[in-house]
Amino acid sequence: MTAKPIFVLNGPTLNLLGTREPEIYGTTTLDDIQGMATARAKSHGLTVDFRQSNREGELVDWIIEAREKACGIILNAGAYTHTSIALYDAIKAVNVPLIEVHLSNPYAREPFRHHSHVSHAAKGVICGLRAQGYEFAVDAIASLVGSQKGKS
Ligand code: DQA
Repeated sequence: MTAKPIFVLNGPTLNLLGTREPEIYGTTTLDDIQGMATARAKSHGLTVDFRQSNREGELVDWIIEAREKACGIILNAGAYTHTSIALYDAIKAVNVPLIEVHLSNPYAREPFRHHSHVSHAAKGVICGLRAQGYEFAVDAIASLVGSQKGKS
């Protein structure tokens, strides 16, 4: 088992999942998603370090922390996806594979959601599959880091 966890980083307002616009984001809570991601990582012999912040700078700090401490990053940057060059710069500065995740499909929504600064620096993007997207993102990181159950 690789010693380093996957950082699963969640941005603004994702702490309200479950009650926030359920017709768009579903009724799954962030705690539920943490459980799903943890279980999926375990099936690959991996662990997750799951976090949420409403503050852009804290997300930047966590991406920089991942440089030393994570084998991969799963990032749902929420609305900062569409605005934050600081997040883009931080991702570019660290040599850690990053999968961008969105519960909804931003490309089927308002035009201001059609551009992602994160996508320019991400290894891959998963969107529109609601909470299951996090499980697929864990699969993607496991594949990128060459992890498999039982491998040491
Ligand atoms: C989101 C999509 C963003 O456009 C939005 O600002 C969010 C959630 C998603 O998971 O679908 O906060 O990242």
